[in-house]
Amino acid sequence: MSLREQYRIIKFADFGDERGNLVVIEGDGMDIPFDIKRVFYIYGSDSEVVRGSHANIETEFLLVNVSGTSKVRVDNGYEEEIIELNKPRTGLYLSNMLWKDMYDFSPDSVLLVLASRHYDPDEYIRDYDEYLNIIKRKKS
Ligand code: TYD
Repeated sequence: MSLREQYRIIKFADFGDERGNLVVIEGDGMDIPFDIKRVFYIYGSDSEVVRGSHANIETEFLLVNVSGTSKVRVDNGYEEEIIELNKPRTGLYLSNMLWKDMYDFSPDSVLLVLASRHYDPDEYIRDYDEYLNIIKRKKS
């Protein structure tokens, strides 16, 4: 599968009016392809910090910088791409089995993450060589 099929930029509806903005993300195939099982958010990371650096065997993710900006590097073992997150209305969908790094956090960055699975440390691959071995084994 090409990298382009493994991630997607998704724009969400904004029901903003004179009172302010309201952005809605519905799960279960409505706005994003999965049922949302877990929500977490990352803030207060310095600009030189690199987070993530793992792949997930099962979990799919949706990332939104609801405040500030950050960058996400996605890598499928063959290709890589860097996506900048800088709009509260725009999310990045990531399929499972993608290697990802999050970095270049602005001081006001709040990175909201929606996940398709509950947390399970056993489905994280944190060693890049191990990730590559799994990917290359799958292909052959
Ligand atoms: P980590 O996976 O290093 O976060 P990131 O990939 O965003 O840099 O997680 C940091 C710690 O938080 C680690 O001890 C595991 C824990 N954690 C949970 O318990 N549940 C979760 O959903 C997440 C994302 C992390």
